[in-house]
Amino acid sequence: MKKISVKLKENSYGIIISNDNRDFVSELKKLKGISSFFIVSDSNIAKIHLNDFKNLLLKSRFNVKSVIIKAGETGKSLQSLSFLYDMALKADIDRQSCVLALGGGVVGDCAGFFASTYMRGIKYIQIPTTLLAMCDSSIGGKTAVNTKGGKNIAGSFYQPAFVFINTDFLKTLCQKQINNGLAEIIKYAFSFEYSFIKYLAKALDGGIINKESFEYMIYKSCIYKSQIVEKDVKETKNLRAILNLGHTLAHAIETATKYNKFLHGEAVSIGLLFAAKLSVLYKLCSQEVYDKLKDLLKSAGLIFDADGLNALRLVNLMKKDKKSVHSKIKFVLLKGFGKAQAGYYVEDEIIYNQLKRFLNQYKGEK
Ligand SMILES: NC(=O)c1ccc[n+]([C@@H]2O[C@H](COP(=O)([O-])OP(=O)(O)OC[C@H]3O[C@@H](n4cnc5c(N)ncnc54)[C@H](O)[C@@H]3O)[C@@H](O)[C@H]2O)c1
Repeated sequence: MKKISVKLKENSYGIIISNDNRDFVSELKKLKGISSFFIVSDSNIAKIHLNDFKNLLLKSRFNVKSVIIKAGETGKSLQSLSFLYDMALKADIDRQSCVLALGGGVVGDCAGFFASTYMRGIKYIQIPTTLLAMCDSSIGGKTAVNTKGGKNIAGSFYQPAFVFINTDFLKTLCQKQINNGLAEIIKYAFSFEYSFIKYLAKALDGGIINKESFEYMIYKSCIYKSQIVEKDVKETKNLRAILNLGHTLAHAIETATKYNKFLHGEAVSIGLLFAAKLSVLYKLCSQEVYDKLKDLLKSAGLIFDADGLNALRLVNLMKKDKKSVHSKIKFVLLKGFGKAQAGYYVEDEIIYNQLKRFLNQYKGEK
């Protein structure tokens, strides 16, 4: 078992990485005065993991109820939220209850936001079941649902009581979803640590990642994310922005393709490569950084097909992004291996020309 402390004064919590669910049960027992647990999962996870998970808690004589939301991004909606409020009331979930978010980022974000607002806020615990959620979305306390107007429009910063990561959940996750999480892990390595890049290159060579490597990658990612969150919990100091390496373009791609063509990590991998391209253009880093990043993304199954992506449309979307200021597009760029820096404004015309060339280069790639 590994434990990482996220130090946020009265909102501090632990991230526990363990393959022994008894560690989870003993953490639950440390929480004082909990009347009942309310498991939120989605329709896919429920089929595979919900019964075993519920039984684990029932055996320990906890009072447990569960509810299932729709799987996939459409499950992160105001309708799901409303459904959760209704079901919680029916199940007698009260202010002393605790929500258990058993799932990927969709469940984590939706259940977290539900917990932050139900009866003005009740405790919740993140139990991430996707690689992306284990290395990223379960940490940091960002919760949200999408509205008609856009992604993550209704949300809050609300820290969990703890995060429990059991990599055994990954055994039932498909390769495409594993690759999706690897994009964020590669992002951490290129943002923060050269030796982590070297580690990943070795671990991803050959395609099969062993349990120890998964645990190590997740552990490193959690450390980096929690260190940034500790310094800038509500993203007010421009420090948390560094976690957005690759995300300026990724968000535009997700919007342009209506969240249908690429998973988040797949869009991030395109964004990472483009950020590296701009970094080389501005002589912030060498071509070698771009080439190594491309090789690593390739070995994680993340090289993309740019067919259908239009440079002008993407530039316009980036200008509208909630992180751009006065319509000026801001990037996180690379100053070398493991050295990301936020806050670079790049002229629209430069982005457009570079992006057009970049996308042409990747048309028809598989
Ligand atoms: N809060 C944050 O800081 C943060 C950060 C990054 C991403 N996100 C959000 O996370 C969401 C994406 O999360 P995700 O990639 O985990 O997607 P997801 O939650 O939709 O899960 C992906 C798919 O895998 C299935 N699944 C989950 N665990 C499984 C398992 N162990 N075995 C088999 N199938 C399983 C799910 O049912 C779903 O179909 C997005 O909504 C994104 O906005 C939030």
